[in-house]
Amino acid sequence: MNYTYLECLALFGVGGAHPGGLQLTKKILAEEKINGDTTLLEVGCGTGQTAAYLAQQYGCSINVLDNNSIMVEKAQQRFSSLALSIDAKVGDTENLPYPDKHFDIALSESVISFTNVIATIPEIKRVLKRNGRLLAIETVLEQTISEKEQTQIIDFYRFPQLFTENEWLTAFRDAGFQRVDVTKYQPGLEQVDEQHAADFSLSETIDDALLEILGKHEEIMQRNKDKLGFRIFRCS
Ligand SMILES: C[S@@+](CC[C@H](N)C(=O)[O-])C[C@H]1O[C@@H](n2cnc3c(N)ncnc32)[C@H](O)[C@@H]1O
Repeated sequence: MNYTYLECLALFGVGGAHPGGLQLTKKILAEEKINGDTTLLEVGCGTGQTAAYLAQQYGCSINVLDNNSIMVEKAQQRFSSLALSIDAKVGDTENLPYPDKHFDIALSESVISFTNVIATIPEIKRVLKRNGRLLAIETVLEQTISEKEQTQIIDFYRFPQLFTENEWLTAFRDAGFQRVDVTKYQPGLEQVDEQHAADFSLSETIDDALLEILGKHEEIMQRNKDKLGFRIFRCS
């Protein structure tokens, strides 16, 4: 069977499946004003590690969504095992099942890159309150690469596009975000958080093809380490 990279993450149930993992998440969130009155949406929640942390640390109101039903099921299992009340839905970032101007914060940890950016960003903006902000950790193309290299990356991750930092900035501004602060993420600078270093929720059947996909991901990341980078975008 041919699995996609994202299906592979879902079957392994990888928590914190974004650059910097939960450690970077904690750092980004610590710079925001979040309290019990904050309404927060996490798109592409995966297995719900970040949402569980948010609920436990800040007690805010959280809605999460992912278009992979295995991810949502694993997130729901996590939330119920921790007795957390978090609304989790299967749904698409390009057509969010929430009313206009509803959330204070939207969070995307390596998610928008996997979607049609031009459709997703305005949809996130729609559900944010007037002063709402979007926090996103996303992949950027750091330098010009050959068409062949670009095709390999896009085909493996099934990225609908691979944007440079400037292209991301244009997309955020075109969607109506007036201020976009950008931070370059430097892998490896943070301490590993032992409590959350390995966070897996394995499905019953794990086929060898899945290990090959993880291996291919490592190989692509290594081969393109100067060409692919990551940014933290804070859009308001
Ligand atoms: C790289 S994983 C990151 C998961 C999670 N944010 C984390 O850090 O562990 C990307 C996630 O985005 C979800 N996703 C991709 N495209 C999506 C879409 N159009 N709508 C909703 N979720 C999507 C995938 O199913 C996957 O769970």
